[in-house]
Amino acid sequence: MVGWLGVFWVGPLQAVNISDDAHLGVASCASSVCHGKLEAQVGKNVWLNEYRIWSTEDRHHRAYQTLLNDTSKRIATNLGLPNAHEAKICLDCHADNVPANKRGPKFQMADGVGCEACHGGGERWVESHREPGVTHADNIARGMYPTEDSSERARLCLSCHMGTKDQFTTHRIMGAGHPRLVFELESFTANQPAHYEVDEDYLKRKGSVVGFGLWLTGQIAAAQNYLGMLQSDLLSSAGIAPEFSLYDCHSCHHAMTEQRWGGLRLKQGLAPGGLRLQDNHMLMLRSVGEAVGGSEAAALDALVRKLLIAGQTGYAQTRSAAAELSAWVGARKGTWLQREFSVAEIKRIRKAIARQGADGQLNDFAAAEQAFYGIESLSYYVNDIDSVGPAVDKIFATLEDDSKFSAASFRAACSAALKTL
Ligand code: HEC
Ligand code: HEC
Ligand code: HEC
Ligand code: HEC
Repeated sequence: MVGWLGVFWVGPLQAVNISDDAHLGVASCASSVCHGKLEAQVGKNVWLNEYRIWSTEDRHHRAYQTLLNDTSKRIATNLGLPNAHEAKICLDCHADNVPANKRGPKFQMADGVGCEACHGGGERWVESHREPGVTHADNIARGMYPTEDSSERARLCLSCHMGTKDQFTTHRIMGAGHPRLVFELESFTANQPAHYEVDEDYLKRKGSVVGFGLWLTGQIAAAQNYLGMLQSDLLSSAGIAPEFSLYDCHSCHHAMTEQRWGGLRLKQGLAPGGLRLQDNHMLMLRSVGEAVGGSEAAALDALVRKLLIAGQTGYAQTRSAAAELSAWVGARKGTWLQREFSVAEIKRIRKAIARQGADGQLNDFAAAEQAFYGIESLSYYVNDIDSVGPAVDKIFATLEDDSKFSAASFRAACSAALKTL
């Protein structure tokens, strides 16, 4: 576990070290002889219209522009910042904010989350990567980021979509008006949208993981990333109280008339009225544990319970429970991620998610939301989305507005879905 954290907390600027090489700017990739073609090219191993897709359909393209809009102005004013578009805390996630001495002549902050924010600084590979005979491994050796590796990809996306101890949407930033963050690797990979195709040639070059593998890798990486932040100074950095953004948002943000205590929480030994940490990604892993069988789910339950109680008790207890749980999740990288799951097993995992939902174990909005993403992603993977789609849509309908979320409606939608899943 120490080794893993050692790899994780690299670089003071961004937790994902997108190489120390200079970033040359989107203009260096976008010419019409490179990645700036209008249409996908036939007979080439890559489409070469990646720039067009990114600049017209991909929200990363407008991530910097967002910092100039009224919401960002309001956030900046509330935080006492002169503006958002020059604030390091905003640029770290809304642009490719490498240090000034790592910006090539064509680099522009206004490009937002550009090619090199994900693919790494091009200084040493921009010329060589288009030469014949150069392999993907050669590019990586010259500083290209291994986005095809699902664990590395998850780490990259999560560094902005969940945050790290060094770049994080604290509760001060949320309170100032930033939207809540959510992430699920499989769905977000599909929604980006893709500027590549995982075809035979791609598999030969990169042997990538898709579908179930992406979902599971994403859940493991998200749990690890979160538990890593709980162990860091971030937890105790907010003054008199812990950092609220590390707790379940809706445990505080819900109507007082909605009485929730009892049931599972009582069973877990949590005190009413206490703070509750986030367990959404762990609850997804619980479904995998259930499908795998043995004592996996029970072991995870015990560790999650310990963490939740620690989160009501003190910083030291929280850090140590997070470390223990993180070691358990980390070990599943070696077992679950190396293992072939059959279609029948994946269907069992999907069913376990819906059953947890129906039983009231996913009553928190963030957990219900992950359940939806999971059930949907796994249905694409087992290739029966056409028949289960209507039931999945009904689950989604209960999640459209988090301020109107009713746990009872969500439970009912999950119960109904169990009949078709
Ligand atoms: C450098 C930070 C950063 C990285 C790395 C990053 N993103 Fe994003 N992403 C953002 C920001 C910021 C936005 C919001 C842009 C806006 O609308 O202003 C965003 C938006 C998105 C959206 C649209 C969300 C929506 O609600 O429709 C998707 C999908 C997405 N990212 C997927 C990914 C995936 C997949 C990865 C990893 C391969 C990734 N992102 C890596 C910062 C990042
Ligand atoms: C940890 C990374 C991170 C930090 C720090 C961060 N953001 Fe964001 N921001 C995101 C991501 C990711 C999204 C997209 C969320 C989604 O749609 O899933 C986003 C979305 C937004 C949106 C909403 C965009 C839309 O149109 O829906 C605004 C506005 C925004 N951020 C402004 C800011 C400002 C201003 C700051 C600095 C005070 C800031 N952000 C700091 C990651 C970050
Ligand atoms: C938010 C992260 C992100 C951004 C921004 C981004 N990419 Fe990608 N890109 C990916 C991911 C993820 C993949 C798929 C994994 C892989 O093949 O490495 C990918 C794949 C590719 C591929 C490989 C296709 C193949 O078949 O091997 C090319 C080429 C590419 N991107 C070019 C670009 C260019 C050019 C830009 C900027 C205009 C860009 N990307 C912006 C994440 C990103
Ligand atoms: C421990 C309780 C707690 C948790 C957990 C919590 N908040 Fe808050 N939140 C508060 C309090 C207290 C305020 C201040 C309310 C006020 O000023 O009237 C607040 C204010 C806010 C506001 C501003 C509302 C306004 O009146 O302008 C937003 C937005 C917000 N929180 C979002 C979030 C998000 C997103 C999360 C999870 C990442 C979260 N909160 C987690 C207690 C919490």
